[in-house]
Amino acid sequence: MNYTEAYLKLEKYNQTHLLKWYDFLSDNEKTLLLEKIASLDLLILSSNGSNKDKESISPLKTLTLSEIKEEENQDRDIGIKYMKSGKLACVLLAGGMGSRLGYEYPKGMYNIGISNKLTIFKCQMDTLKARVKECGKYIYLFIMTSPENNEITIRHFEQNNYYGYDKSYIKFFIQKEYPVTDMEGKILLENKFTPATAPNGNGGWYQSMRIAGLKDFIIKHGIEYLNVYSVDNVLQKMADPVFLGSMINRNSECGAKVVRKVDPNERVGVICMANGHPSITEYIELTDELRYSKDENGEYLYNFGVILNYIFKVDALERTHENAFPIYKANKKYPYMDEVGNFINPTEPNAYKYETFVLDMIRMMNDCVSFEVDRKKEFAPVKNLHGIDSVDTARELLIKNNIQI
Ligand code: UD1
Repeated sequence: MNYTEAYLKLEKYNQTHLLKWYDFLSDNEKTLLLEKIASLDLLILSSNGSNKDKESISPLKTLTLSEIKEEENQDRDIGIKYMKSGKLACVLLAGGMGSRLGYEYPKGMYNIGISNKLTIFKCQMDTLKARVKECGKYIYLFIMTSPENNEITIRHFEQNNYYGYDKSYIKFFIQKEYPVTDMEGKILLENKFTPATAPNGNGGWYQSMRIAGLKDFIIKHGIEYLNVYSVDNVLQKMADPVFLGSMINRNSECGAKVVRKVDPNERVGVICMANGHPSITEYIELTDELRYSKDENGEYLYNFGVILNYIFKVDALERTHENAFPIYKANKKYPYMDEVGNFINPTEPNAYKYETFVLDMIRMMNDCVSFEVDRKKEFAPVKNLHGIDSVDTARELLIKNNIQI
């Protein structure tokens, strides 16, 4: 991209201030700036937010633990059959850092062990290896990193011998970034030649896989289902043949593992129907009216929360175009360079970060198997150092599951 092309691209969105220092830059800095402008996604700046408040929400029937038990054998058989023929691959969302744990490295590298070294990655890789043993075939694992943590994550896997996994079955890809703006929607500059950008949330994983050329890989290897899951659950059970089989036997396009909420205020996304489509309403968006509404038996109607473990049919994912996602704006403190060239380290939120969420892919599907799992065995989220959903609670659950820490 040359200067004129960059100018024209920015002009459409009122962002020409990014070129303010151009004449003062070295040749190398000019090239870096123009490359960065070429890659900026400006379309998201004109998004009108989620519009979800206008949706009509109703409950979605969940397959409960006892119902799953009744059909477990036939679901497992078909799930194993598909896994044996390589039709399922896993996608680990590991773009996040451990900042909320006071840990400035990729969250998966966090050592949750006490006497033993037990990283979050190890917890998850041990589970995946058990699944490989069960189905007798290696499962492809795609790991999403961010520009910030890609190198260190790859090095960590190399240094740990890929946790004993066959490395030819692990592929890393980097998630896309969106611009960071001030409160008026102007993109911030980190320095005279670097417009500010940040990871675009966990909703961009499939688009980022495509950008990395992995769609061709998926087709070439006959992968039909992708199991996507978060890094921050040390009891995450991925590549679960019963879960996969329950979707295949119902000819479903997607499935979501859910747990019974501990109380109506638990900070998990709630599975439901919205405007006739399966959907997830994030905890902050759930109105009190829905949160506390009950059925005729006194059960909460929106009682099942997602644990960020979904399976999608690959051909259905092709419908999840980037511009179909609601864009969420998060208020952040973001260091920047002001218009006269001073570096500012704000003490109050001064910026918007733009994100899409994986949970919004569910509403792009025609149907969804809401699949209950036992939270004591499958849900040990590590969001904080202490308190709810913390390192402390995750350790307790690991011990209860006989995992040596
Ligand atoms: C998430 C879910 C919530 C669910 C809960 C269960 C979303 C938006 N929310 O909440 O519905 O009930 O988990 O624990 O999905 N990530 C990236 N790149 C990013 C941002 C996040 O890879 O740019 C990854 C993180 O590394 C992590 C996962 O996405 O693996 C969860 O992201 P986070 O934004 O922390 O969501 P939660 O608020 O924990």
